[in-house]
Amino acid sequence: MKLQPLALSAVAFAAAIASAAHAAPQVEVLHYWTSGGEAKSAAELKKIMESKGVAWKDFAVAGGGGENAMTALKARVMAGSAPTAAQIKGPSIQEWGQEGTLANIDAAATEGKWETLLPPVVTNVMKYKGHFVAVPVNVHRVNWLYVNPAVLAKAGAKAPTNFAEFFDAADKIKKAGLVAVAHGGQPWQDATVFESVVLGVGGADFYKKSLVQLDQASLTSPTMIKAFETLARIKTYIDKDAAGRDWNLATAMVINGKAGMQFMGDWAKGEFTAAGKVPGKDFLCLAAPGTDKAFTFNIDSLAMFKVKSADDQKAQLTLANAVMSPEFQEVFNLNKGSIPVRAGVSRTKFDSCATRSMDDLAATSKGNALVPSLAHGMAVDSAKAGAIQDVIAKFMNSNMTPQAAAQALAKAAKTM
Ligand code: GAL
Repeated sequence: MKLQPLALSAVAFAAAIASAAHAAPQVEVLHYWTSGGEAKSAAELKKIMESKGVAWKDFAVAGGGGENAMTALKARVMAGSAPTAAQIKGPSIQEWGQEGTLANIDAAATEGKWETLLPPVVTNVMKYKGHFVAVPVNVHRVNWLYVNPAVLAKAGAKAPTNFAEFFDAADKIKKAGLVAVAHGGQPWQDATVFESVVLGVGGADFYKKSLVQLDQASLTSPTMIKAFETLARIKTYIDKDAAGRDWNLATAMVINGKAGMQFMGDWAKGEFTAAGKVPGKDFLCLAAPGTDKAFTFNIDSLAMFKVKSADDQKAQLTLANAVMSPEFQEVFNLNKGSIPVRAGVSRTKFDSCATRSMDDLAATSKGNALVPSLAHGMAVDSAKAGAIQDVIAKFMNSNMTPQAAAQALAKAAKTM
């Protein structure tokens, strides 16, 4: 990621005037949490900040997976008016660190004792050159399959645990005249399905070798070809109106009983919860087929940008500490579908999907089956992730063969 200097635009000028005009300390936070469940989660952070006397300026950019948000962020940073904080994750934090735009928030980390509350795998990602520049928000699990049990019952199908059962259920749902797989044809959603398929077909070690280490032999291996064959079969259960559909609208199809199943991370659970649905009764959260013993993680975080005034710097540290507070970690994650990232948050209010996620996170981190999400910017740098995502999207939208897709994937993995 390279930022080019830009002439001061009208937008930057307006932003400069606006920031000069605000008197009370303020934080401006860029995020893409705009679906029903997500907006509720973001509103909780706003409430907490306001209760601390800090004004909240919302910089919400719609678009699942955050691509639009990142475009908006780059424009603002290039124009010299970065927000206080932005939802930036994984290796991208290092990329922004290299641009020299991130603020040192060690003071918040020391005050909040982050080193003792977070595992090193998390703190390492939040630091640039040994200093904290970002605060973690949550842990999302990506390898879920959300299922409407009423649709299964109507179709005479049972909840799948592996791909054979999954395709059996999908056939029955299709025969019953319903959509078997709710999906939105957007590159990041395609990649979300793909990575769960790779994990289910190849297992955690194969996932790591191919999608994290980008080992060329694994990327072109028969196992990868099998993963693409599986993905090609999944395509046949997606309805014809899927192109461009937002993820939460696909989730709504499952909620409303128009569709049976959706591969999606647990932000989808936030939609079920916001609709008043109960896990185990109105919907099922199942591990994606064949991924029961593994956990694909996606850690949301807010990276902090350099701000000028002492008041705004103080407000930024207040924001960082608020995000790590047990109070925020509980209420945000109850709405968002994710689980707290820090130790010391009571699990009593969390539902069965969340407590299962907590248990599985603990178990998989001991057993080596905890893997970073490729589709959600946890596994490789943004240039490689983008090139890989393009191949998957092309595969989803054409008649490309699994063999050709595996070759293209291996090539994309060499992107600098
Ligand atoms: C993920 C992000 C989640 C959620 C989802 C849908 O990348 O980590 O918090 O927003 O995209 O937009």
